[in-house]
This record gives sequence, C-alpha cells and structure tokens, in this order.
Amino acid sequence: MKIAVIGGGNLGSALAKALVKKYDVVVTRRNPEKIDFLRELGCEITSDNAKAVQDSDIALLTVKKDHVKEVLSEIPKDKITVSFVAGLTFKELEMVLKKPVKAMTMLSAEFGKGFSIYYSKLVDEDNDLVERVLSCFGDVFRGEEKDVDNLTAFASSLAFIPKIYEAFVYSGLRLGYDSEIAKRIALQVFEGGVELLKSYEPHEIVEKIVTPAGTTIEGLCKLMERGVEFGIIDAIQACAKRFESL
Ligand SMILES: NC(=O)c1ccc[n+]([C@@H]2O[C@H](COP(=O)([O-])OP(=O)(O)OC[C@H]3O[C@@H](n4cnc5c(N)ncnc54)[C@H](OP(=O)(O)O)[C@@H]3O)[C@@H](O)[C@H]2O)c1
Repeated sequence: MKIAVIGGGNLGSALAKALVKKYDVVVTRRNPEKIDFLRELGCEITSDNAKAVQDSDIALLTVKKDHVKEVLSEIPKDKITVSFVAGLTFKELEMVLKKPVKAMTMLSAEFGKGFSIYYSKLVDEDNDLVERVLSCFGDVFRGEEKDVDNLTAFASSLAFIPKIYEAFVYSGLRLGYDSEIAKRIALQVFEGGVELLKSYEPHEIVEKIVTPAGTTIEGLCKLMERGVEFGIIDAIQACAKRFESL
C-alpha cells in the first residue's frame, strides 16, 4: 500500500515516520528540502501534490486550514482522503472530495502512541483501510464528527506534559540533583505512572504510596490547595472553547 502525506510539517512528518515502518510513503510540501530527513528514513519527497495522491491508495491531509483550498484544488478527488485539519468540517470536505474522512490524532502518533478518532460515510471495506493506516499511530476509534472535534481540544493537552515535566525537573534540581539525573527521575515518574495506571485505579495507586503522616500526603494536600486538577480541567476546556471559534 502507498500513502500520500500532503503537508510534511510537524504532524505530517510525525505520521510519515510511523507509516514508513510498514508502508510506502510519499510526503509533500512546497519546500521539500526541509524534510530531507524523511527521505533518509525511506519516504519519497516531492512538491507535486497531484502526482503524490494519484500514485497512492490513500491520502492524509496535514496542512493548516489556510492552505486547504489550494491543496484540494490540485489533488485527484476520487481517492480516500483523511483530513487532520483542525476546524475543517466534514461538509466542507464532502463538497470537494468523493471519499472524505475527517480525523484527528496527536503528535505522539510518531511512536505509535497516539489516539486517533475518525468519522466517515465510507463503505466497510474503505473504513477497514482507513483503520489499518490509523492503527500505525496507536489506538483508533470510529466516532461522530463531534468526537473528532473534541479530540482536537483534548489532544492539545499533550503540550501540557512537557510543561509539567519541566516542573518535575526543577523540583529535582531544587532537591540538589544535577539536571541529567533530575530529568531521568522525572521521566521515570511519568513512565512509571502510566504503567501503574494501566494496572490499577488512581485511588489504589495513591493508597499504595501514601503513608499516614508521611511525605506524600503533604505533597498531595499542597496539590489540592493549588487546584492542580481543576487547573487541568480548565485548561482543556479553554482549548475546547478556542476550537469553537476556529
Ligand atoms: N501539530 C500537531 O500536533 C497537530 C495535531 C493534530 C492535528 N494537527 C493539524 O495538522 C495540520 C498541520 O499542523 P502542523 O502543526 O503540522 O503545521 P505545520 O508544521 O505548519 O505543517 C503544515 C505543512 O504544510 C505544508 N504546506 C503548506 N501548503 C502546502 C501545499 N500547498 N502543498 C503541500 N504542503 C503544503 C507546509 O510546508 P511548506 O511551507 O514547505 O509547503 C508545512 O510544513 C493543521 O491543520 C493542524 O490543525 C496538528
């Protein structure tokens, strides 16, 4: 199978890296020299959107909304075309393309650790092909258009993680570790936390770690005092609110 990634920027490059491990991939952008690193991984690179889509079984649209009109005017309309463009409606896609799919994913798709949601009106056979492609990016869910739009807001929260990680590293530095050790410990706190969450409910993990009158409960009380949970809920809500005005 050959896949065209139209718009090899941040998202397009991440998706291409995941896909090229399994499939033939052609990536386009107007300045193809900026993604030479993808050629080294085995991708074909070009600025010819029309030919890239023509020669492929499926196209992924990863340009910004401002560039969609231009791209859609160039590419063949009969191929399955999966749009990851935030703010572009299924109706707008349907007006131009014969086999549109509206989808959303997240940057961690590069490592097969994303979550993708798609909405389509395709026949089962075509949806199977879409799912085979999206499964290269991690978990996949077929939902309604609203589910796709909500993921645009929810997946923005991936950008919160490096900020929270930095706070952990600063805490390690404050305790006196050098920055390399502080980063290694902080990463293990994240990775270990994810592994524990796969096996236990949050309250079970907390109960296993907390000692009465110990250190952890002091930190947890401080987190609650600072309203960290509601801060995160508010921040994701802010992403959702912004999405409505795109
Ligand atoms: N970044 C994310 O984590 C993420 C996650 C989910 C969804 N998205 C969605 O993915 C889309 C891209 O986001 P991004 O962050 O990857 O933006 P980006 O880094 O700016 O990538 C967009 C790419 O499109 C290329 N492009 C523009 N016009 C083109 C054309 N006519 N033909 C071919 N390529 C063209 C640009 O390269 P040239 O200027 O060289 O052409 C640019 O590298 C957006 O709609 C966004 O909503 C992004």
